[in-house]
Amino acid sequence: MPELTPRRILVTSALPYANGPLHLGHLLETIQTDIWVRFQKLRGHDCRYVCADDAHGTAIMLKAEQEGITPEALIARVQADHMADFEGFHIGFDHYHSTHSEENRHYSTLIYQRLRDNGHIATREVTQAFDPEKGLFLADRFIKGTCPRCGADDQYGDNCEACGATYSPTELKNPRSALSGATPVEKASTHYFFTLTAFADFLKRWTRAGHVQPEVANKLAEWLDAGLQDWDISRDAPYFGFEIPDAPGKYFYVWLDAPIGYMASFQALCDREGLDFDAYWQQGSEAELYHFIGKDIINFHALFWPAMLSSAQFRTPTGVFAHGFLTVNGKKMSKSRGTFIMAKTWREHLDTEGLRYYFAAKLGASVDDIDLNLEDFVQRVNSDLVGKVVNIASRCAKFINQQFGNELAASLDRPELVEAAIEAGAGIAEAFEAREYARAIREIMAVADSANQYIDERKPWVLAKDPNQTELAHKVCTTGIHLFRLLALYLKPVTPQMVARAEVFLNEHLDWAGLERLRCGETVNPFEPLMGRIDPKTVAALVDASAAQTAAAQTASPAPKATGKPMINIDDFDKIDLRIARIEKAELVEGADKLLRLTLNLGDETRTVFSGIRAAYGDPAVLEGRLTVMIVNLAPRKMKFGVSEGMVLAAGPGGKDIFLLSPDSGATPGMAVK
Ligand code: 2FM
Ligand code: ZN
Repeated sequence: MPELTPRRILVTSALPYANGPLHLGHLLETIQTDIWVRFQKLRGHDCRYVCADDAHGTAIMLKAEQEGITPEALIARVQADHMADFEGFHIGFDHYHSTHSEENRHYSTLIYQRLRDNGHIATREVTQAFDPEKGLFLADRFIKGTCPRCGADDQYGDNCEACGATYSPTELKNPRSALSGATPVEKASTHYFFTLTAFADFLKRWTRAGHVQPEVANKLAEWLDAGLQDWDISRDAPYFGFEIPDAPGKYFYVWLDAPIGYMASFQALCDREGLDFDAYWQQGSEAELYHFIGKDIINFHALFWPAMLSSAQFRTPTGVFAHGFLTVNGKKMSKSRGTFIMAKTWREHLDTEGLRYYFAAKLGASVDDIDLNLEDFVQRVNSDLVGKVVNIASRCAKFINQQFGNELAASLDRPELVEAAIEAGAGIAEAFEAREYARAIREIMAVADSANQYIDERKPWVLAKDPNQTELAHKVCTTGIHLFRLLALYLKPVTPQMVARAEVFLNEHLDWAGLERLRCGETVNPFEPLMGRIDPKTVAALVDASAAQTAAAQTASPAPKATGKPMINIDDFDKIDLRIARIEKAELVEGADKLLRLTLNLGDETRTVFSGIRAAYGDPAVLEGRLTVMIVNLAPRKMKFGVSEGMVLAAGPGGKDIFLLSPDSGATPGMAVK
């Protein structure tokens, strides 16, 4: 194998906001990044992976206020949750920081000053909606009112969820602040702008120089051709962020200091490990810099960020890699369907490496969306990881452990099979490097298939029983273990924990430099189970738990008491037509000791309903003339004794304790019940 020249690489994932928990959408990105980083490290490159919480902005300030805590307390709590989730999914950051840090203040200030000194900061008056009660400028999403097109109330300041119209907040009828309910007023203030327009030519070149995926370059070209606008980088107090050094009362907009957070996190890593920050960030640096991001934040990373870096005399990214969104079971993640799954809920129900494997099996280098189909997930993990990979080891290890004293045979039964599996490594490495993980997984599974086919043909469990075939059984199992070893090496970036357990068994630290190593004559350790099958019931429980969380969050706290019935929403309830009915006649039903036949007057019609309230009304005549609430649009039900045309409602636990409305309640037959 040719020697690899070590590369110096710095990698980042987008910084999650510090105002809420991580969900599977966040994990799609960090898992994609982590696989790439682990692959680079496995290949012997000097690769560092940093990230941080994105801790500034109005949303975080308001959430802290709502909870009655300081923003600092909120971001500390959320960061601890994020880090626990990332650890649970084996995301191997070299450092995880916060944008609310001294390092970030330093670099945000430095970059701003350099932009300003280069003439790339301008000020302008901006008139915006202002909440006079809260003393805050209102972003569009904090203004609500009546849609100017369809008249739906309670719509956001920029679009109507009822009819899909988009508009500006000034067009909303009866606008009000979503924060205080006050009517917003127009107010002007001075804003600071980064003169992005000055970078149009630079960006046209940069975005066509191989730093972004081809489809992203095309999208960016459309934006660049349509013309750039200067970027508003300031927000007025009160704001949770960094005050602009020469502009009291003005703060850096959260998106100004967020990408600078990549530098801040790396600086903290440099301080901890004695690395040279400038060697990575100075112009002309030979280190490689890659940002993994979602396709919704391309403008920040492929326009604003390279322009800022270039003005501030820092290097620009080597690559910005955008990925698509995550769908679950073919649809946008949905809270009501239970497919808006939080990282923590997943951890509580399922092994996290299964998800890493599944994402890898689906991910390519494009910005296409990725679907997590939960049935396919179970099937794929069980058949590939457990059924194919782990199975090879468990079938061969038993004999090596029990019959051959943990020692591998001195030679292989089929060296050409191992040779072919080694040769497959080049294509697999190429696929990982190009972020074509789905291709890498297909090639790895082809190696697993040929290994299983070999074991199935040779049947070591039969050979091992025949005293004349012991030596062959030993060689076959040794060949199987060699093939498993290569699969473990190839899967190490994807399922690091499972492979760590395999390394204990193999008695070896796996890296790409040892790809061609043969282990003949060496010892292994007792085999321990590497990974269990996923029970589909666990996935169903995960979905139920996710739906229940949503229901609890949507209902005013405290969470609703469990009723034993599924939660319904207002639309479900709205389907029920409830009316007042007068009981004209109440009769015993022959042959039914629980039922009464009720003849009900609804004002303009009469219905027959069979009701199970006989225990409470042994003398049905007392019911005659009484009022009850009835569901009039319940589908008629054919019973042994006749057709029941609805249902009457009564209070009480049942048996003798059943209570109907009193005749003097003031209600009249046919009256709707609300
Ligand atoms: O979209 C988001 O979730 C942002 N918090 C991402 C920031 S990435 C970077 F620029 F810091
Ligand atoms: Zn509308």
